[in-house]
Amino acid sequence: MTSNDSNAAQRARFEPMVVAAGQDGRRLAALASLALRIGLRGRVYQLAIQARACAPDDVEVAADTQHLIGHSVPRWHFSMLQDAPRNAAFDAAIRRAVTPGTHVLDIGAGSGLLSMMAARAGAGRVVACEHYPVIADAARRIVAANGYDRQIRIVTGNSTELDRDADLEGHADVIVSEIVSNNLLAEGVLDTLADAAQRLLAPGGQMIPSGGDVMVALASWSGAEALRTHTVSGFNFAQFDALAQVPRTVSIGDPTLLLHSAPTALLAFDFAAPAPAEPHRGNATLVTDGGPIGGIVQWIRLRLDAEGTYENRPGPGASSHWSAHFYPFDTPLDLPVGAPVHITGVHDGHRLLLWPQDSAL
Ligand SMILES: C[S@@+](CC[C@H](N)C(=O)[O-])C[C@H]1O[C@@H](n2cnc3c(N)ncnc32)[C@H](O)[C@@H]1O
Repeated sequence: MTSNDSNAAQRARFEPMVVAAGQDGRRLAALASLALRIGLRGRVYQLAIQARACAPDDVEVAADTQHLIGHSVPRWHFSMLQDAPRNAAFDAAIRRAVTPGTHVLDIGAGSGLLSMMAARAGAGRVVACEHYPVIADAARRIVAANGYDRQIRIVTGNSTELDRDADLEGHADVIVSEIVSNNLLAEGVLDTLADAAQRLLAPGGQMIPSGGDVMVALASWSGAEALRTHTVSGFNFAQFDALAQVPRTVSIGDPTLLLHSAPTALLAFDFAAPAPAEPHRGNATLVTDGGPIGGIVQWIRLRLDAEGTYENRPGPGASSHWSAHFYPFDTPLDLPVGAPVHITGVHDGHRLLLWPQDSAL
C-alpha cells in the first residue's frame, strides 16, 4: 500500500471521525492535524476553529491550532502582500480603469487587496472570488475591518464556476486578477482568464493585467555553481547532479546574478484570447556582452494596461516576492562580445522549458 492509498483510505474514514469527536476540543485539534497530513487542507482551519470554540481555556489546544492554521496557508501570501512595487503597479492601473459606478470582478481575491483598491478608487460594486475557503473567510473579515463590506462581496469558489447573473448580477466592466506565478502561467492562468473574458467581461471591458510576457536573458549566477554536487566528505558525487531540479529558483536581487544580454520577451500572452490548445513555443537570439555565461535567467512582465507594466527584472537591489528561474548550461560559456546564442522555450500552461538550440551548449 502506498502512502497515497493510505491517505485515500484515511480520507474516506475522516468525516465519521469528526462526528465521533463531538465537542471534544483536543480530539478536534488532533483531527485538524490529521487533515493536514492526509491532504485535506481545506478542513484544517474549520476544525481548528471548532476545537478552539470547544476548549476556549485549553492553552495546548490554542498552541496546537495556531501552528496548524499557519501551516495550512501558503507562505507566499505573506511575502506577496509586502511586495510594494507589485502593489503600487496594480493600484495605479486600477485607479486608471475604475470610475464611479464601475462593476469590478476580482479573480483570485486572496485576502482582498485588489478588491479594496478597486473600492477605494470608487467602484460601484466589486465581486471578489477566492477558491480557498480559509483565505476567502479572512478576506471577508479584512474587507469588513476596512469598512468596504457594502461595496465588496466575497464569493468562495473558483472563477470558472461563477454564474454571470446569480453571482455577478451582470457583466463586469473590469476584471482584475493576480494569479500569476514565477513562470507566469503555472496557476492555470490562460484557461481561467480566457473563460472569464468570454463569459463574465462586458463587451469592450478591460482585463488587468491584459497580458504577460516570459522574459529571458543570458546570465551568470555563481549560486548555481555552488549548488552543484561535486565532492562530499571526500567522495565524488558528480553523478547525483543529474537528479537536480531545473530550473533553479533565485532571488531577483541576488548580487551574484548578472545579466549578460539585453532582456527579451521570449513568449507573449494575451489574457483575453481563447486559451491555446497547443503549448506555446518561441525562439529568441540573445547577444552576449562578453561576460561568462552560465545559463538563461527567466522572469515575468505583466502588461497591466495601455500605460503600465510590472516587471521583476533581476538586478542589484531589485526585490519581488516572485523569484527568477535559472536554467544552467551544462558547461559555462565564454563567448566574445556580440556572439549570438539561439534559444527555444515552450510553455504548456504549467511547465516552462528553455534550452539553447546548439546542443553543444
Ligand atoms: C497570487 S494570489 C493573489 C491574491 C490577491 N489578489 C493579491 O493580489 O494580493 C492568488 C489567489 O487566487 C486564488 N485563485 C487562483 N485561481 C483562482 C480561480 N480561478 N478562482 C478563484 N480563486 C483563484 C488562489 O487561491 C490565491 O489565493
